[in-house]
Amino acid sequence: MRADLKRLEEMEAAARAGGGPERVQRQHAQGKMTARERLEALLDPGSFVELDAFVTHRATEFGLDRERPPGDGVVTGWGQVDGRTIYVFAQDFTVLGGSVGEAHGRKICKVLDLALENGAPVVGLNDSGGARIQEGVDALVAYGEIFYRNVLASGVVPQISVIMGPCAGGAVYSPALTDFVVMVEGTARMFITGPDVIRAVTHEEVTPEELGGARVHHTTSGVAHLVAPDDAAALALVRRLLSYLPSNNAEDPPYLPPTDPPDRVDEELDTLVPEDPTEPYNMYEVIRRVVDDGEFLEIQAGFAPHLIVGFARLGGYPVGIVAQQPAVLAGVLDIHAADKGARFIRFCDAFNIPLVTFADTPGFLPGVAQEHGGIIRHGAKMIYAYAEATVPKLSVITRKAYGGAYIVMSSKPLRGDLCLAWPTAEIAVMGPEGAVNVVFRKELAEADDPEAARERLVREYRDRFANPYVAAGRGYLDGVIRPSQTRSMLIRGLEMLRDKRVRRPARKHGNIPL
Ligand code: HXC
Repeated sequence: MRADLKRLEEMEAAARAGGGPERVQRQHAQGKMTARERLEALLDPGSFVELDAFVTHRATEFGLDRERPPGDGVVTGWGQVDGRTIYVFAQDFTVLGGSVGEAHGRKICKVLDLALENGAPVVGLNDSGGARIQEGVDALVAYGEIFYRNVLASGVVPQISVIMGPCAGGAVYSPALTDFVVMVEGTARMFITGPDVIRAVTHEEVTPEELGGARVHHTTSGVAHLVAPDDAAALALVRRLLSYLPSNNAEDPPYLPPTDPPDRVDEELDTLVPEDPTEPYNMYEVIRRVVDDGEFLEIQAGFAPHLIVGFARLGGYPVGIVAQQPAVLAGVLDIHAADKGARFIRFCDAFNIPLVTFADTPGFLPGVAQEHGGIIRHGAKMIYAYAEATVPKLSVITRKAYGGAYIVMSSKPLRGDLCLAWPTAEIAVMGPEGAVNVVFRKELAEADDPEAARERLVREYRDRFANPYVAAGRGYLDGVIRPSQTRSMLIRGLEMLRDKRVRRPARKHGNIPL
């Protein structure tokens, strides 16, 4: 072989070897794939093109001059998912612990720049010891450059972070700035300060898994949008997520010709909501019966489960679903639900994904903890997000829509485009019991039989207000529909709204309550 080609071959082999067989074995023993194995699993077979395989750092401190591995601990480039280009970086924990130094950071910035310039999503596979200690401030600046690009790319191209190992300290903020965080159970760890620092400062004892594992971030903190049992499942989830997303904010999301008939009628829906308004039912059942082939990719399933958000298709077109879950806390709106809902709505709006809302909520959750926790500030985010959104907004009130929560949930005054209700809908300032206590306090106090009087008044209130016909009579609802026909109505609505255009006054940006 010619010497020049031989040299190239040797260089490529050195880059592919990562941190060597021992470290690779250690990676595998922890149930983790290597960076290159992960990229192979994520991308269409044979589609990965590597960039910067021979980049090395130029640091000299603390022995780094003796260790200049090609690639500098991160594999970057582009490839395809279902034939569509995405940009990728995968940190290689076997090389310098996947730590981020100047050169490593530059490589990530290069793919972020390419993604932004060429309008394609970025998927980052994180497995890193964080800022490379030996590179000092250069390592910190590398993160700053990444953060800046994450912010520039926000709302322009979808950004997905997969956490497949450690992600600690300020390093967590790049994933946090992206649109979706996927964590692998058992190996992913995210925290600002680890258990040792916490022990020293607050004297709390906590394991790394309890502090920043996938479960806790999926259920308690809301940081992880999706979790998966292992690397392969996490990467498969990313492929599934991408199937609903456009490549950039100037594109429409990908249409897939539906096999599920758009005019499919589901008779079961007509009786799904119980006649007794206090009896719960399962909103997943509604979603499953309405969307194409019952397929729903739920986002943040474990966090604030009384509000369901996620992606599905209707007539082949991707939609973002926002729905209360009456089977959990009666579907109340609270701080976490508002945060979760608002962020999802804004993502869908940024990427031209129409919103379909199923509303059934008794209202905002009462309580000192909620008030002092800032439900005013957080609840406002939902109003802001719905009002700001210019994508088609369709809604179905399945049962309760009381008080401010009626207005919040994609209502006409917030410029809902197609506002529908089932015959079971109840739309009023408050629920019958509460309303009667306020309005008829005197009558109840003076009644010979207060209980009988209360029952009669509640019945009267229900007949008058707890139905959809007052709102429909004013045109606040566009229609009251048979539940069995929800799918076809929504699909026809989406078709009607396909070319929706909204003009807004020019401004630098709004000021969403945070
Ligand atoms: C340089 C690092 C490194 C780092 C790990 N390594 N982290 N090298 N800088 N930050 C190296 C180790 O020296 C080791 O090298 C190899 O990577 C594997 O690390 P191990 O410790 O052997 O692995 P493990 O036992 O699995 O532990 C993983 C770990 C631990 C928990 C991540 O390495 C660790 O605590 N690292 C430091 C984490 C940290 O505090 N990072 C800074 C966070 S602050 P050899 O040669 O032995 O294989 C931050 C600021 C960002 O990131 C600021 C943004 C604004």
